[in-house]
Amino acid sequence: MRVVITGAAGFLGRLLTARLVQAGRLAGPDGSAQPVDALTLVDAGPLQVPDLAAGTAPPVDVRQVDVTDAAAVVDLLAGDEPLTVFHLAAMVSGACERDPDGAWAVNVEGTRNVLEAARHRAGPTRLVATSSVAVYGHGAAGAVVDDDTRQVPATTYGMTKAAGELMVDDATRKGFLDGRTARLPTVVVRPGAANAAASSFASAIVREPAAGRPYALPVPWDTPIAAIGYREVVDGLVALHDLHGDVLGPDRALALPGVTVTPRDLYDALVRHVGMRSLGDVTLDVDPVVRRIADGWPAAVTGSRARDLGFAASGGADTLVAAYLADFG
Ligand SMILES: NC(=O)c1ccc[n+]([C@@H]2O[C@H](COP(=O)([O-])OP(=O)(O)OC[C@H]3O[C@@H](n4cnc5c(N)ncnc54)[C@H](O)[C@@H]3O)[C@@H](O)[C@H]2O)c1
Repeated sequence: MRVVITGAAGFLGRLLTARLVQAGRLAGPDGSAQPVDALTLVDAGPLQVPDLAAGTAPPVDVRQVDVTDAAAVVDLLAGDEPLTVFHLAAMVSGACERDPDGAWAVNVEGTRNVLEAARHRAGPTRLVATSSVAVYGHGAAGAVVDDDTRQVPATTYGMTKAAGELMVDDATRKGFLDGRTARLPTVVVRPGAANAAASSFASAIVREPAAGRPYALPVPWDTPIAAIGYREVVDGLVALHDLHGDVLGPDRALALPGVTVTPRDLYDALVRHVGMRSLGDVTLDVDPVVRRIADGWPAAVTGSRARDLGFAASGGADTLVAAYLADFG
């Protein structure tokens, strides 16, 4: 089995790569665990081959491909072997609001290029895509949402992610591939540099003070965040991949369960774990654009369908912070 990860240079792409290299197996088309024979890491930006333990890891190659380049995506996926694509490449929320044309090109046309390339390749393809709770929006602001909550996105990003879910459902219905989409709450705690997501404050409120750097929080301290830990996301992407398609039926999008935390909860957990002494100062400097986007998000994501299928929810702020400090602190 060959595996391709798009957006592999990103936060979740790097973690998923590490997980696949470590596990070395995924469910094949017949449901039995199959070895991953080759792993291709794809991103529009520069990529590095990760350090791999000799003899245990599948061969890894890296390809700098922009998913808006349809011909390059066809070339990337071509072949008659069973293929899994984890399609993570995306323009994220803040950037999509600033550049709706780019959002359409990358998130809608880019996803269509991946689906079309899978449709026309010779071998079977299973695809796991990533969506977001930004598909909710109007009517969901501050609310508890679940899989069956109506989707009326309040941002361009949310619109493109809702479109992506429908495209994956339709390509699956047509038999072009076997697709599924994980609808993700805000993933915390992101290490390294922030990306252009409006939700980046949810990680920065831990990461920046923990590194001794000052941080200006752009939303009120009590802003609810429907969050999920990155460990549960990576586990969830693999579990969603391995599910038999019949379990999901025609609705291939699964909301992963969230845990509701506020910036205050996360910061207080950080203080409990490391104490105040080494932390960078945090000030409040509300950014009206970020606040407006954050105020449109749901406060909680139940994820009933995923829970019923055995997907684990993340623990609270202490668990989320402890995971980050253990893995990246
Ligand atoms: N992190 C979160 O909180 C979160 C929440 C909900 C959904 N998601 C979704 O999960 C996925 C991964 O998110 P992430 O946090 O790792 O984001 P990220 O920004 O860290 O990574 C995205 C990667 O996609 C790449 N990319 C962008 N445009 C591309 C293109 N045209 N062609 C190829 N590669 C391109 C970027 O270079 C980047 O490396 C995205 O689809 C995102 O929308 C993330």
